[in-house]
Amino acid sequence: MSKTAELILEGRSYQLPIVEGTEKERAIDISSLRGESGYITLDEGYVNTGSCRSQITFIDGEKGILRYRGIPIEELAEKCSFVEVAHLIIMNKLPNREELKRFSEMLTANELLHEDIKYHFEGFPPNAHPMAILSSMINAGSCFYPELLTEMRSQFDVQAARLLSQVRTIAAFAYRKSRGLPIIYPKPDYRYTENFLHMMFSLPYNDIEMKREAVKALDLIFLLHADHEQNCSTSTVRMVASARSNLFASAAAGVCALWGSLHGGANQVVIEMLKEIHESGDDGSRFIEDAKNKSSGRRLMGFGHRVYKNYDPRAKILKKACDDLFAKLDRSDPLLDIAKRLEEAALKDSYFIERQLYPNVDFYSGIAMRALGIPVEMFTVIFAIGRMPGWIANYKEVMEDPNARISRPRQIYMGPTLNHFVPIDQR
Ligand code: SDX
Repeated sequence: MSKTAELILEGRSYQLPIVEGTEKERAIDISSLRGESGYITLDEGYVNTGSCRSQITFIDGEKGILRYRGIPIEELAEKCSFVEVAHLIIMNKLPNREELKRFSEMLTANELLHEDIKYHFEGFPPNAHPMAILSSMINAGSCFYPELLTEMRSQFDVQAARLLSQVRTIAAFAYRKSRGLPIIYPKPDYRYTENFLHMMFSLPYNDIEMKREAVKALDLIFLLHADHEQNCSTSTVRMVASARSNLFASAAAGVCALWGSLHGGANQVVIEMLKEIHESGDDGSRFIEDAKNKSSGRRLMGFGHRVYKNYDPRAKILKKACDDLFAKLDRSDPLLDIAKRLEEAALKDSYFIERQLYPNVDFYSGIAMRALGIPVEMFTVIFAIGRMPGWIANYKEVMEDPNARISRPRQIYMGPTLNHFVPIDQR
């Protein structure tokens, strides 16, 4: 295979290097293009554009493959805890027993917020969206841990453990404030996901009953969201990191990007969509027709993906997890039945087939979270907690790259050509 691509512009030939990844993905390196030809490329939405080289996550969208550090998501989902996978993604290795113990101890040692941060929660109105609180309070972290600004590299492991641990505490505190409930502090003898459920649902002096199937299901949800190569929010984290902003500021920016309804916010919209269909008595067919009709402004939320042109492997795992969870809890949810009907209808419909639209991670995740008693406004917060290892690992990759430069895309200007100031009386 040729090592260069030839581009002919205005009769001149340019040889551009071809880059091949470990999974045989190929790219044309255009870093010399503008200098040599005066041209830039344009790719709105970055559909065809790679922003970086990364060693964290591999996705084959055509085959529906997802691997964290080379290990298939199906194996990790079956055999690992979220904390083990977080260690794999951030430290680039599955931890041995000693490393896992040390990592868990670091998470426990950093689970409490600075006590003064608590007062900031007072300033939010009760109906504040928890994603707004989450991004604000993560960013506030640098006010209480000034070493974040000066020791970005030397203290990285502590900062990463603090962020990964405290994102739970902030999320749970935000939920408790929104319900007018007293905040519940983390308990050192609880493991990661148990502690989150404890902080969310226990009452003073009355810990919730820790149901093993609930802990396992939520831990799986976190794990399945842990990283996903250069999605919108992770690319945002890398963009902010490239300016040498601190870890907490970069993660706070990631939370803001994730909040969008086309991205992590979709899990909340999926449930609202399923509830609307359920309440309308529609068997789903009317909604499917709307989703196919551009002028309706509706989409089949939880369907379609920029990279997966096949079934999102996470959706497959979550669909089965929903069945298992409802069986163990001896419960059912009409929204799950509607979701399955929508999936069955869409996968037979030429509109969805032609566009290669399949269920993505958001299609079933909300149904599992509903079964765990998590309120819908907290769904994207759960996504953010799960995605934190991926954001931390991508931040680390940028900071450790000796050749990393500030990300600063070009543009094609389409505005007015040269004109001049006009005094107000002549306008
Ligand atoms: C996540 O990037 C990641 O990795 C993200 C994520 C992660 O883990 O970080 O996987 C998490 O964000 C999952 C996606 C959650 N969003 C949704 O479920 C929202 C619904 N889906 C879409 O809006 C859409 O599919 C996107 C945003 C996910 C992808 O958008 P693209 O790649 O820009 O595709 P597009 O909007 O250009 O759609 C292509 C065509 C269009 O039709 P035509 O113009 O070709 O006729 O497909 C249609 C779209 O109208 N289409 C849909 C549809 N999704 C795409 N039509 C109906 N329902 C849908 N859900």
